[in-house]
Amino acid sequence: MSNDPTAPLLFFDSGIGGLSVLNEVRRALPNAPLVYAADYAGLPYGTKSEAEIMARVPALLGRLVERYRPRLVTIACNTACTIALSHVRAALDVPVVGTVPAIKPAAESTRTGVIGLLGTAATIRQSYVDRLQMAHAPGMNLLRHAAPELVHAAEAKLRAEAVDPRVYTDAMRGLTNHPDGDHLDVTVLGCTHFPLVQEELSIAAPNMRFVDGAAGIARRICHLTDGQSWPNEPTDGVFVTTGPVAELESLRPALATFGLTQIKAL
Ligand code: DGL
Repeated sequence: MSNDPTAPLLFFDSGIGGLSVLNEVRRALPNAPLVYAADYAGLPYGTKSEAEIMARVPALLGRLVERYRPRLVTIACNTACTIALSHVRAALDVPVVGTVPAIKPAAESTRTGVIGLLGTAATIRQSYVDRLQMAHAPGMNLLRHAAPELVHAAEAKLRAEAVDPRVYTDAMRGLTNHPDGDHLDVTVLGCTHFPLVQEELSIAAPNMRFVDGAAGIARRICHLTDGQSWPNEPTDGVFVTTGPVAELESLRPALATFGLTQIKAL
């Protein structure tokens, strides 16, 4: 158990997607010191091979843990987790919380038994997803669609850049075009970037229910850190990038709304 109140929670994603997870955690633990690491030198993960993710993610997290000494690591990226979660856990000696598609809550709330999964190309092809489906949605129809353009849309939205709304209708059509797609009532946002554009997706598909794992992850982190000490008030959060810091200027205002006011290079 960590007795150092300044030991941070570390979040990791390829870009800003993990902010959808961090946001829920901040609500539950407002004084938790935060370090958010974005692997911009590796974005996007969704088009990478399993071998590339395996080679990259555990090594990077090793460096981050050495530098920031977090009390807990959250891999706020479905692509990295469905491929490399067990490897990261084996390599680090801090607790690691993962983010995987929220198929369980979706299965609990569907009335038709037809569930959609929007994720990256790398995530939706993982056997990890097959196992989640077998465990939590047996006998249900899970329609999968890769929507890499939503990763870019979320990145652009947080930089206050204009996004063509067709990317949202196209992504939803990618699900509803499947046979049985007209019965779809719940869609899993299986990439942490996607909850950041949920409002836009809801406009594209007004009757759809969207689910993601962020609230469950926040509960898990609260449970794992129960009884630990925290600073008496919120502290300035750190955003660390593997890419050039100069490319993050347009993100500064959005990052500040998540409490991340210091931007650093790894
Ligand atoms: N945010 C990531 C995820 O949850 C991946 C986005 C990407 O880099 O393709 O899968």
